[in-house]
Amino acid sequence: MKVGGQHRRCIWLEDDGKTVGIIDQTLLPHRFATVRLETLQDAARAIVTMQVRGAPLIGATAAYGVCLALKADASDESLERAYATLIATRPTAVNLKWALDEMMAAVRNRPRDERVAAAYRRAADICEQDIAINRAIGRHGLALIEKIAATKKPGEHVNVLTHCNAGWLAAVDVGTALSPVYTAHDAGIPLHVWVDETRPRNQGASLTAWELGQHGVPHTVIPDNTGGHLMQHGEVDIAIVGADRVAANGDVANKIGTYLKALAAKDNDVPFYVALPSPTIDFTVTDGVAEIPIEQRSADEVATIAGRAADGRIATVRIVPDGSAVANYGFDVTPARLVTGLITERGVIGASREALAKAFPERANAAK
Ligand code: MRU
Repeated sequence: MKVGGQHRRCIWLEDDGKTVGIIDQTLLPHRFATVRLETLQDAARAIVTMQVRGAPLIGATAAYGVCLALKADASDESLERAYATLIATRPTAVNLKWALDEMMAAVRNRPRDERVAAAYRRAADICEQDIAINRAIGRHGLALIEKIAATKKPGEHVNVLTHCNAGWLAAVDVGTALSPVYTAHDAGIPLHVWVDETRPRNQGASLTAWELGQHGVPHTVIPDNTGGHLMQHGEVDIAIVGADRVAANGDVANKIGTYLKALAAKDNDVPFYVALPSPTIDFTVTDGVAEIPIEQRSADEVATIAGRAADGRIATVRIVPDGSAVANYGFDVTPARLVTGLITERGVIGASREALAKAFPERANAAK
């Protein structure tokens, strides 16, 4: 992804080879600023405060959080503390646990003097793997978009609807749900993206719109409740969303509001696809609707809204009466029966127990 014409990733090692750079996503789209993470606590705070967010990027940040902890103290106690601190940061995106387990496996049985180097190697691998997976998702998703483009009249755009931010900013690079979009755009397919604003944190309005704009992809931001109307009127050719956790039965946890889009898509025969890297699959969860933990976040995120005032200042204002109760569920679970297909690095597969186990037998067997 290019920002201001310069290629950037969402997480990187600084020049000292030890501290970690991230983009402070809480400031976008108004300001592009980077932050240096020097300690385990810095990494944990970045995840909790959503300076970084998005399942794959949370996983990558946690991996480097383990590195930062071991750099300060390579003992068993320090490793256990790092795991406990980071796993507690956010409950729904399973990439966090996946990355922490990978880090544990890479360092736990090594002598202390080898742990730091081994941890940095594994964290770098996790980042490279994320990029390779996302590129493959882009190639497989491209075929879906190409097929739709072939049936459209010449000059007509393929209209894609997406929810939340599952783009470059949610990953190390490239993105998951937006990877097919970027791949198709770069291949010259005329395409336009409906961007759900994604209340309450507005990841669509603030992040997806920003990164699509950086890449030159035509897009329109819509209030979250607009998708059904657009689908009814033939204005959506395909919905592609990301995922924070996919259960063994194909149920998909994603940003709150995804389920309603899937229902509207079903009612209007709009294909509804979920793009996910395999670390987002949790084969230990057999029934996503019943078992995936849903993060409940601060009431302030619903009761207030932040934006840029006319004088350029960033301001937060209250939009809910004092005293009104507020609920803030961060995610919902879309049942597999509403999902047309899962776009994975190993191809587009059905949202079912059988298809997931067939595509990722090593992961399915390991969870038994
Ligand atoms: O709460 P967030 O911003 O971390 O939400 C996660 C997401 O970015 C979305 O749910 C996304 O669609 C899946 S992550 C690629």
